[in-house]
Amino acid sequence: MRAQIIGTGSCLPEKIVTNDFLSTIVDTSDEWISQRTGIRERAVCTDETLTDLLTQAANQALERAGITAQELDLILCATIRGDYITPSQACVIQKEIGASCPAMDISAACTGFIYALDVAAGYFARKKVKKVLVLAGDCMTRMMDWSDRSTCVLFGDGAGAVVLGEGENLMAIQLTANGNVDVLNIPHVGGDSPFDKLPKSQSYLSMNGKEVYKFAVSSMYRDVQTVCDQAGVKVEDVDWIVPHQANLRIIEAAAHKLKVSGEKCLTGIENLGNTSAASIPIVLDRANTEGKFKAGDLLVLTAFGAGLTTGACVLRW
Ligand code: UT7
Repeated sequence: MRAQIIGTGSCLPEKIVTNDFLSTIVDTSDEWISQRTGIRERAVCTDETLTDLLTQAANQALERAGITAQELDLILCATIRGDYITPSQACVIQKEIGASCPAMDISAACTGFIYALDVAAGYFARKKVKKVLVLAGDCMTRMMDWSDRSTCVLFGDGAGAVVLGEGENLMAIQLTANGNVDVLNIPHVGGDSPFDKLPKSQSYLSMNGKEVYKFAVSSMYRDVQTVCDQAGVKVEDVDWIVPHQANLRIIEAAAHKLKVSGEKCLTGIENLGNTSAASIPIVLDRANTEGKFKAGDLLVLTAFGAGLTTGACVLRW
């Protein structure tokens, strides 16, 4: 592959909601949420739009990459639901940051960032681009049924971004999809067509948590091994695993099966909750700005989500 990450950025909304606060809204407790998921608090959108979060993450990534928006050849945005059904969220951000390149959204739920990396890698392979902005973001808390304790406590809002430039550091990407609406879905928002005979449904997330949990652990275990094989590296040689942040127990169970020590798995779920596709680039950006990565470190990104989709990526920092 002909690409490498040359800048990272992220942005969270200002309001922090603790587990204790949630227990005043639904029948839950800090003990249940933190023990079952590892989540203690999450950032939640109030008057921020997804555009606000993504614009800030994008500008940060551009600044750290040392390039201007005008130098971008492509913008990809992984999101479940942009601020508009149309135009795409990527086009909205293109205007906000002052870019003039093509822009489009990628819909692969929590796996979206890795799907977007793979799409970008294809553009690099065809030599159509030199600089690509890959964004991921969602305001998940606006898609929750806030009377359903089994889902509303799990999610948070946020955005992440990376700038890709030419290089050889993206080593392998592995994607899967296994169509299954029942286990995890968010129905569409209805219009008000006088001819429409379909039942009106609320656009809330519904999920069979146990099924997703089992799928997540087994697919992370499989994908990390597969993508390491593709890249010609051994799992034990990986310096950092950057997993999708949905549940600390999922991360720990997958790491245990892979025989990878906990310190190698980067987490942020304690104060992020599940931020869907944004979780990997947010955690990546945090580790990058904390100076955790050394040049040459071997990273594996791994995600799963609605679709059901999964993805993993090996890259050299
Ligand atoms: O990004 C992809 C999106 N989704 C995920 O990754 C989610 C994957 N799944 C999970 O993380 C876990 O399955 C959950 C955290 C969602 C649930 O954990 P669990 O250990 O599988 O719990 P459970 O669903 O088996 O529920 C156990 C009990 C139930 O009560 P009973 O039937 O045993 O009496 C639930 O009603 O916990 C109850 N419960 C709660 N109690 C307090 C469910 N939600 C809550 C809550 N507070 N918020």
